[in-house]
Amino acid sequence: MESSSSYGRLIIITGGGNGIGRATALLCAKRGDTVAILDKNGESANEASRIALERGASGAVGVACDVSDEEQVAQSFALIHKRFGAPYGLFANAGIDLGGLIHEMPLERWKLIVDTNLTGIFLTCKHGIRQMLDAKVAGSIVCTSSPAGFVAQAAGRAGVYSATKGGISSLVRCMAIDYAPFGIRINAIVPGATETGMCWNNVPVAEVENMRAQLSREIPLGRLAQPEDQARMVVWLLSDEASYATGAHFVCDGGILAKASISV
Ligand code: NAI
Repeated sequence: MESSSSYGRLIIITGGGNGIGRATALLCAKRGDTVAILDKNGESANEASRIALERGASGAVGVACDVSDEEQVAQSFALIHKRFGAPYGLFANAGIDLGGLIHEMPLERWKLIVDTNLTGIFLTCKHGIRQMLDAKVAGSIVCTSSPAGFVAQAAGRAGVYSATKGGISSLVRCMAIDYAPFGIRINAIVPGATETGMCWNNVPVAEVENMRAQLSREIPLGRLAQPEDQARMVVWLLSDEASYATGAHFVCDGGILAKASISV
């Protein structure tokens, strides 16, 4: 665990050890926030926390936490609260993407994906919102959805993942209404194909270069996103500049969702 004393806003980020979560933690750090980085991979959480301090975070801590396990989430939030107080912001972002056809899907695999992606967001928001309400913090929460929550992925075999992302999108709308009276804003980001480890999870290593080139041809903006493209939007949603945004989806996908897939 890496830490230092805090004097900025506290932002808690799940899945902050890598990819979009890490990029967001480091951008928050650059802006002087205190960041608490939760990740199942404790080493990467600690590493991100160390870099956050180098980049200017007013405090940082890395915590090994599996977001699908309520005991771990509750303990992590209690530890962070003891050190830094109640959070101003939450980025509920941890997720996994395992493919598979439904008729072949072992129940255990289904549960792993649902527990990580959807239950993980529920538990993160549950414990974060409790602390915000107790401390009367009118904070901001951002949850990570996906274009897969809106349309079926062209490559197929994404039923479980898509179901979790659709669930997250519904949850975000409902939570936004429930907590608006407390001034807590809750939004979703919808990242397009973003250059992280997850992006290539379901692609054989030898095919990654070809796939990257093909995706770049198909994406209207002509390239995949970098994690920082997503981080800038999350940081904006966490800021007062987004003070009237709640219950909404912020699409940052290079035009994927705007484009029909048939050739007419
Ligand atoms: P990533 O694989 O780079 O980072 C995800 C992080 O979550 C990893 O550090 C991993 O250790 C952590 N994690 C996994 N299971 C966990 C658990 N049970 N508890 C705590 N941490 C856990 O992936 P990326 O791309 O940064 O993904 C972040 C979010 O963005 C995910 O929710 C993903 O579904 C979503 N997303 C990603 C897209 C992409 O193209 N990369 C596109 C659309 C959505």
